[in-house]
Amino acid sequence: MIDLRSDTVTRPTPAMLKAMTEAEVGDDVFAEDPTVNAFEEKIANLFGMEAGLFVPSGTMGNQLCLHVLTTPGDEVILDETGHIFNYESGAAAHLSSLQLHPLKGKRGKISPELIEPAIRPKNEWDPHTRVIALENTTNKGGGAFYAKKELAEIRTLADKHGLDVHLDGARIWNALTVSGIGPEFFGTIADTLSVCFSKGLGAPVGSMILGNRDHVKRARRIRKMWGGGMRQIGLLAAAADYAVEHHWPLLKEDHRRARAFAEAVAAHPAFHVDSAAVETNIVLFDVVQGTVEKAIQNFAGAGVGMVPFGAKTIRATFHFQIDDEALEKVLQVVEDFPI
Ligand SMILES: Cc1ncc(COP(=O)(O)O)c(C=O)c1O
Repeated sequence: MIDLRSDTVTRPTPAMLKAMTEAEVGDDVFAEDPTVNAFEEKIANLFGMEAGLFVPSGTMGNQLCLHVLTTPGDEVILDETGHIFNYESGAAAHLSSLQLHPLKGKRGKISPELIEPAIRPKNEWDPHTRVIALENTTNKGGGAFYAKKELAEIRTLADKHGLDVHLDGARIWNALTVSGIGPEFFGTIADTLSVCFSKGLGAPVGSMILGNRDHVKRARRIRKMWGGGMRQIGLLAAAADYAVEHHWPLLKEDHRRARAFAEAVAAHPAFHVDSAAVETNIVLFDVVQGTVEKAIQNFAGAGVGMVPFGAKTIRATFHFQIDDEALEKVLQVVEDFPI
């Protein structure tokens, strides 16, 4: 199957596996894994942050960051399509006693005009607005990314109201690729940042949270409490490091292929998509003839996997294990899709 269901479906390459087997390891709960320690320092430096902590998943990364930034009863402002709001099993309520305040942004992005009226007055009876959580690129928003100016304006607003900014950068590598923003800029706009190595970068496991030394020290204890203390994970850090070095440069090809796919979909009468809005590796398109279920079945029957992403919407996601040959086959399947 040509698997466009997600960019998480990639398999480790032989070269990545080799890097893993060659990694020097130690017990990371004792902070004695040299590969992990070096990798945490490297990624923290890359993003201009004081410290980093390797964690098993993007979900744990987001939740640790929210936990260290808040106290129970606080409120987090985010877009209504945000991963934290939709796909983390209600963890913010369960693990940190937080209330999420979703806003209707555009393609998963929120702006100061939307955020400022949502900041609560400081009354005893109001929830306490504490964090603005952004996602970059957006998943359910179809891979949209924030421009530098938009991020800077949100930072200014957060400072004006004494709020922290958390950025879910599961696909920040795609955002960096397309926006031309340097990674160190994110250290100036986010208090905490969580980045994934297991999405388009293609590592089998792993995310990292970044913040100041105090955030990371406290997150390290909570990671242990939540059962995320890991031992000889230099193996995984080596895979993630390999992915940053060798797969990050490939993301621009994923973006090109996603755009070509979107153009083919736009040309078919059964579907609707604004192909110009496809900026990174995610394509959301609507089914205008028939149902999403039937369309997904048809694509699967033709050997192409996709996922439903709403009542009328399908998501196709590109990754480095979809090459140009696979793309050509997918384009043909779209062209031949029964009307
Ligand atoms: C935007 C975003 N944030 C966070 C996550 C969570 O990552 P994980 O599946 O590693 O928990 C995902 C997963 O796809 C995501 O798309």
